[in-house]
This record gives sequence, C-alpha cells and structure tokens, in this order.
Amino acid sequence: MKILVINGPNLNLLGLREPKIYGSRTYADLCSFIEDSCKELGVECELYQSNHEGDIVDKIQQAYGVFDGLVINPAAYTHTSVAILDAIKAVSIPTVEVHISDVDSREKFRKISYVSYVAKKKIAGLGFEGYKCAVEFLKEYLENK
Ligand code: DQA
Repeated sequence: MKILVINGPNLNLLGLREPKIYGSRTYADLCSFIEDSCKELGVECELYQSNHEGDIVDKIQQAYGVFDGLVINPAAYTHTSVAILDAIKAVSIPTVEVHISDVDSREKFRKISYVSYVAKKKIAGLGFEGYKCAVEFLKEYLENK
C-alpha cells in the first residue's frame, strides 16, 4: 500500500511560523514523524511539499496509478483552490485532508475548504498526530474497500 503525503505552502517553515498555533517542531520533524508512523503501520509513503499550487496539481496528477491513497494538508490553498479539488477528483485517489491547527475555530475564511468536497475525512487540530490518524484511516479504508 502506497500513500502520498502532500504539504502545501509555508509548511516548510514549521517551527518558525506562528509557533503558538503550529508548534515548535520543524518540517523535518514532521517528515520523520510521518515516516515513523507509516513504518509502524506497514505502509509505504512518499512525502512532498510545495509552495506552488500548480506543482501540487502536477504531483496529484502524477500520483495516478502509482499511489493508493493521498494525505493532503493543502495549507492556505485549502481555502482557495478549485484546481487542487479538481485534480483529486480527476485521479479519484482516496484522500484524507489534514490540518495541524483547528481551522474551524480560527478566522471565518478558514472554515471554507474546497478539498473537503472530495476528502473521505477531515482531521484538524491534532497537530502532527493528525497525519498518523489520516494514514490509519486510509489503511483501514483501502483494506476494506
Ligand atoms: C493549515 C491551516 C491553514 O488555514 C493555513 O493556511 C495553513 C496551515 C494547518 O495545518 O493548520 O497554512 O492547513
């Protein structure tokens, strides 16, 4: 089982950006956490981060026929990107949306999520742990499909 984990803009600045909201651990720490979680769950994973919407769309298109599941934190593109939503719809890869912070208890605009229209599940406010929950959910979902 192969899962692609995509992180969107500014998540490469974890540790530096708004630590009260996103914590003090870095993007490298997040990658190690996800890799360790996947190893524990017996799932193969690839990690990808980009600050560019089109690059994220390209990566989702390239995932077709290669990955069984997608975990995505589209970051700010969550609230704006029809292109990312359409790319996920196009490849039909089962997807879980993850946010480190509790987006629904923040500014009003963060309640809007385009990816939510296609995601099997949305996990928000659990910090790094949310990515592990997403992989667990996808594993169970894919095994029982
Ligand atoms: C985020 C929440 C988004 O609103 C924000 O733009 C991000 C990160 C999160 O992980 O909590 O960049 O997706």
